[in-house]
Amino acid sequence: MPGSTEHSVILIANRKGGTGKTTVAVNLAAELVRTRGPTLVVDLDPQGHAGLGLGVIAKAGEPTVHDLFTGQSARLDGAIRRTSVDGLDVIPASRGFSGEFTVREPRTLAAALAPLRARYAAIVLDTPPTVDAILVNALVAADRCLVPTLLHWLALDGLSQFARLFFRVAAHVNPALGALAIVPVLVDTRSTMQRAVLAELIRRYGPEHIFRAIRVDVSLAEAFGLGIPVRAYRPASRGAADFERLCGEVSSFAKTYSPPL
Ligand SMILES: Nc1ncnc2c1ncn2[C@@H]1O[C@H](COP(=O)(O)OP(=O)(O)O)[C@@H](O)[C@H]1O
Ligand SMILES: [Mg+2]
Repeated sequence: MPGSTEHSVILIANRKGGTGKTTVAVNLAAELVRTRGPTLVVDLDPQGHAGLGLGVIAKAGEPTVHDLFTGQSARLDGAIRRTSVDGLDVIPASRGFSGEFTVREPRTLAAALAPLRARYAAIVLDTPPTVDAILVNALVAADRCLVPTLLHWLALDGLSQFARLFFRVAAHVNPALGALAIVPVLVDTRSTMQRAVLAELIRRYGPEHIFRAIRVDVSLAEAFGLGIPVRAYRPASRGAADFERLCGEVSSFAKTYSPPL
């Protein structure tokens, strides 16, 4: 039932670009629609990729989530758009948002999402890698946080930077955030290097914080180009199966783990 799920606002974040955040946001949301019910994707990255991946872009002057930060609006209801997937809505980004905030208050997004929680079973936040004020707003608004990570040595760096910000917000502002959840993405199970990086991730963060991997699947990239989730494009693909499993893990993780702080 909408609004009844405990961990309903799920943040997808990392301090690096190209780590599969938007792919995870769009495709996890498509699975949440099937398992929980009406789901909203909020595209906080001014690149507007989550909107594009769902076939929606805001033209100049149309309402976007970034209106919250430019002071143009304190509400989001007018910015909600339907997608081609039944039950899946999106609030698009402003592709013209230059990072000039007139509103920097860290609870701005949380306050604007509060009245929407009752309408959706899940709300998925896709974020830009670098705009700190947006990341902090998203961390304050979220109930859970998923960090998609490439299994490359350099990725460990971006991850530890993000983990520092995560634990600061979890400790001081939003204890409900709970534990960090890392999702290895673009995984090639034959790669020895990727297995070594995964072992290091497990050593650093603990096995209970690492979710099963999303493997490389060109269907995911193709579906993005068509502006639809992989579930609607190739329901029998490896990508669709991996996201179905991730969705199951997101739900059980929420029930079994308690905050690390
Ligand atoms: N599991 C995957 N298999 C194949 N391609 C993927 C996969 N995950 C992401 N991609 C592709 O990798 C690129 C970067 O992914 P994206 O989700 O846009 O990352 P981010 O939002 O972190 O910048 C995109 O072209 C996307 O289609
Ligand atoms: Mg992205």
